[in-house]
Amino acid sequence: MSEPVLQGKDLSRFYSVKRGMFKPEAIVRALNGVTFELHSGKTLAVVGESGCGKSTLARLVTMIEDPSAGSLLIDGKPAHVGDKSLRSLVQIVFQNPYGSLNPRQKVGTILEEPLVINTRDDAATRRRKVEEMMTKVGLRPEHYDRYPHMFSGGQRQRIAIARALMLRPKVLVLDEPVSALDLSIQAQVLNLLMDLQKEMGLAYLFISHGLSVVRHIADEVMVMYLGRPVEMGTAESVFAHPKHPYTAALLSATPMADPEGKRERIQLQGELPSPLKPPAGCPFNPRCWRATEECRQAMPPLEGDEAQQFACYHPL
Ligand SMILES: Nc1ncnc2c1ncn2[C@@H]1O[C@H](COP(=O)(O)OP(=O)(O)OP(=O)(O)O)[C@@H](O)[C@H]1O
Ligand SMILES: [Mg+2]
Repeated sequence: MSEPVLQGKDLSRFYSVKRGMFKPEAIVRALNGVTFELHSGKTLAVVGESGCGKSTLARLVTMIEDPSAGSLLIDGKPAHVGDKSLRSLVQIVFQNPYGSLNPRQKVGTILEEPLVINTRDDAATRRRKVEEMMTKVGLRPEHYDRYPHMFSGGQRQRIAIARALMLRPKVLVLDEPVSALDLSIQAQVLNLLMDLQKEMGLAYLFISHGLSVVRHIADEVMVMYLGRPVEMGTAESVFAHPKHPYTAALLSATPMADPEGKRERIQLQGELPSPLKPPAGCPFNPRCWRATEECRQAMPPLEGDEAQQFACYHPL
């Protein structure tokens, strides 16, 4: 196989947070040892509950922040904040298409901006490229002079996707790109993303709370819990035979993933622990119905074969 376009090795990101006047600063381990590879034309889905570190991973991969430990390679080269040569290779699309587009700018201006900043294209070339991209993402080029509020949520997300693609990146980070949209619109935008991926050979890092959204788009899946990957593998294996109880619980909460209703519904007990005070041993043990003393003592390593790895002493 070719060289990965994106490679994270043991990526970690810690933050120190103040807990009030008289308490010492605490360390949040927002991301704690994440290793992955992403190849052109492929999608890696990163899945987990709120606070598990998904957006932190997105900030590292888009070079908004440097990791506290570990390394990031983009197109085979070490990446650091401020390194302009790699920056345009990885672009991001956020969840909220309302907040991410400047309401005072016309769509054409929004889409031209990356070209103005990063290329020497003249005005006519920029206009041509913008109109081509608008067509590619299913917008009408005649709408070049319209403002974001004149578009629906789904169309605005198309604008955000178009903007991310203007500099022809190799990787798109999609941070919950459809969760703010109606179900029927979600499917349209997901289909568009899959078409664009095929056509342009894009690699996607697709961030999602749940597994159902990524079922059809993911080639690989990484399930995270409190900053750590607890299960990773090909989408085929992970969906067919989840090994980690947390993955199984996420899947059972996903009606679309189990159309025949064969699986028993697993109700997750308890709350997500505070990332400031993660439990000893396996981070999932306080909520796990299979946990034993061993799980409270030591953190299980991520192990398995090529197709699937999991961090669990009592896999399913
Ligand atoms: N700049 C920061 N300073 C302190 N703590 C932070 C910072 N950024 C993130 N965190 C903490 O790190 C953890 C992971 O946050 P992150 O935003 O990556 O989660 P997430 O998986 O994207 O969640 P969501 O699904 O809600 O978007 C959280 O506990 C969060 O409070
Ligand atoms: Mg997030």
